[in-house]
Amino acid sequence: MDNIFYHQPVMVNEVADFLITAEDGFYIDCTFGGGGHSLYLLEKYKKIKIIAFDQDSDSFNHFNSNEKFADVKDRIVFVRDNFRNIQKRLSDIKIHKVNGLFADLGVSSKQLDDMKRGFSFRSDEILDMRMDRSCKLSAYDVINTYSKEKLQDIFFKYGEESFSKQIAGKIIDYRIKGSIKTCDQLADIIGSVKWSNGKINPATKVFQALRIYVNDELSSLQEMLDSIPEILSDNSRAVILTYHSLEDRIVKQSFKSLQNQGLKIVNKKIIGASEEEIKNNPRSRSAKMRVAEKQNG
Ligand SMILES: C[S@@+](CC[C@H](N)C(=O)[O-])C[C@H]1O[C@@H](n2cnc3c(N)ncnc32)[C@H](O)[C@@H]1O
Repeated sequence: MDNIFYHQPVMVNEVADFLITAEDGFYIDCTFGGGGHSLYLLEKYKKIKIIAFDQDSDSFNHFNSNEKFADVKDRIVFVRDNFRNIQKRLSDIKIHKVNGLFADLGVSSKQLDDMKRGFSFRSDEILDMRMDRSCKLSAYDVINTYSKEKLQDIFFKYGEESFSKQIAGKIIDYRIKGSIKTCDQLADIIGSVKWSNGKINPATKVFQALRIYVNDELSSLQEMLDSIPEILSDNSRAVILTYHSLEDRIVKQSFKSLQNQGLKIVNKKIIGASEEEIKNNPRSRSAKMRVAEKQNG
């Protein structure tokens, strides 16, 4: 039985309040992770059903083996896939419209804290960062085979790293001696180019960039958002939690452009976590919630 700590869900009350418009409806949780949001919703609304997506087999195994889901299992269908395939996977199970869609983007604490997954700059394990380990491309491949220009471009585009050029150059120099195998090895190389400002590890932006690139996160998000008008039934909502500006910009722009496909923006101002939640769960500090509603017709 797997009862390990997986992830502390963020803004559960706010998510429930904005998402649930039909108390006996079908909802999608695009990012099941440790199941914190799904479980909260299923326990609060006894008649709803959830179709849960996650591309990580650890999330699927956690769902299957953790006893806390025992009482709600008959109201969850788990789809182990990238949420970019949502429309196809829904039609495979003969569901065409749902009463709401929720996504809590990024990685879970479990993915970050499990050193073997190679997401953390503190890890002395092989650079990996694949959420879906059946995908071929890992962070190791990117760091050890890509050109200087390509690395620089990735660090700048997905990490907004202002030392992209110098870091990419240092990586290429280092590769002459041998491959860069582990996360902490890469973090040390970055640390030799960039000073730490004390609070934030100098490797943070490059690691974010690599993770986004390896998992093709921004295109997956865009494809999922594009399918929202087709998937949502009238008067139902999409609730999206983002954790960095690149994701938030995509959600903001998509909701805006989907207005001509019947979507209405519910909150003009971003909703964030309460001071109390931020005190208890520092990760919630960067959460931004955006909500859109499908209009009649
Ligand atoms: C922040 S965690 C979700 C945590 C969850 N809400 C909870 O309460 O435990 C994000 C999860 O989404 C998954 N994920 C991220 N991008 C995905 C994608 N494109 N398709 C499917 N799953 C994805 C990750 O594997 C991870 O488990």
